[in-house]
Amino acid sequence: MDPPHDSARSHPGRLASPALQSLSPYVPGKPISELQREYGLTDIVKLASNENPYGPGEAALTAMRAAVEDCWLYPDGSAHELKQALARHHAVDPRCITVGNGSNELLLLLAESFLTAQCSAVCSQYGFAIYPLVTRATGARCIEVPARPAGDPMPFGHDLEAMARAPAGDTRLIFVANPNNPTGTWVERERLRAFIAAAPADALVVLDEAYVEYAALSGVESGLPWLADHPNLVVVRTFSKGYGLAGARIGYAISHPEVAETLNRVRPAFNVSNVAQAGAIAALADQAHVLESARRVVAERERVAAALRATGAAVIPSAGNFLLVEVGAAAQVYEQLLRGGVIVRPVAGYGLPRHLRISIGLPAQNDRLLQLLKPLLQQA
Ligand SMILES: Cc1ncc(COP(=O)(O)O)c(C=O)c1O
Repeated sequence: MDPPHDSARSHPGRLASPALQSLSPYVPGKPISELQREYGLTDIVKLASNENPYGPGEAALTAMRAAVEDCWLYPDGSAHELKQALARHHAVDPRCITVGNGSNELLLLLAESFLTAQCSAVCSQYGFAIYPLVTRATGARCIEVPARPAGDPMPFGHDLEAMARAPAGDTRLIFVANPNNPTGTWVERERLRAFIAAAPADALVVLDEAYVEYAALSGVESGLPWLADHPNLVVVRTFSKGYGLAGARIGYAISHPEVAETLNRVRPAFNVSNVAQAGAIAALADQAHVLESARRVVAERERVAAALRATGAAVIPSAGNFLLVEVGAAAQVYEQLLRGGVIVRPVAGYGLPRHLRISIGLPAQNDRLLQLLKPLLQQA
């Protein structure tokens, strides 16, 4: 028996594609149930995954409860009704829309559809971790562009001028998150517009607007109006954040119809459940809830940021529903917060071992975070 065969027998993971062998899975925020099991705590606050702490509105909940009755049927694989609703909401052709199992799936479908081992994608240092992951999974190269320096007005944010110089001849995808996770930083409208206009015609610019509902209240505008002029622009949105439907798993991309048609070739036929589709349609029609919950979260974000800055901590400017805060020895601070029943997000995996990312919760949850964190910062 030859050795490779033997090794595959006892280590079947080695049969995976060479590109996958060197990848580590995305590490999500610690679930509440895990902290309950590990520490025996019951009163736990999770500020680790940038969800909307107000959840969905009543209309979405009612629609999802009704849709559960039909869960024995396959969902509408083409998400016809939802696409019509999205098309009306954004004033675009429904053929421009692709619906995904969270926007995460759309990022995956974009990589699967447009990258090969002979290609590259451009992303920013400290950019959302999924971009290099989906890129490398295809065997493509990830060109990571150094972010803006710590002392910049937009510390650790995308450096669009450097990103504009980065594409190689084989670059097919360029990822821009506006605002970015985990930094919360954003790029200025005219710079972004110039960046998209100057991007190579043979690369798609993937503009990830996962936090657009919060960004809109923070003076950051969407790139959606530029779609008509730029056939290589893809805007990715999600129902997980502002719409409060993270657990339902639903997001969408708006692009040139040919890009949408291409994504649909690899999209699993029934990728979005009927419950998620019903929730999204109702949530989209309930903009009052989206706006009111986002307003409250943004006001809380500013209150929490001010309270942390008052301790002398560096808080990165954020247009999302979370804050990136320099806390010093982040691993120890994270652990102490866990012991106090508050889950936040360590970002050492992003190369930020002195920072923690804190999602904005309900006012009482934020108070609890501040009560635990402020004394730790004052000691630091
Ligand atoms: C910038 C960004 N894009 C995409 C996603 C994926 O979200 P979802 O798959 O829930 O739509 C996230 C989630 O945290 C994010 O922060």
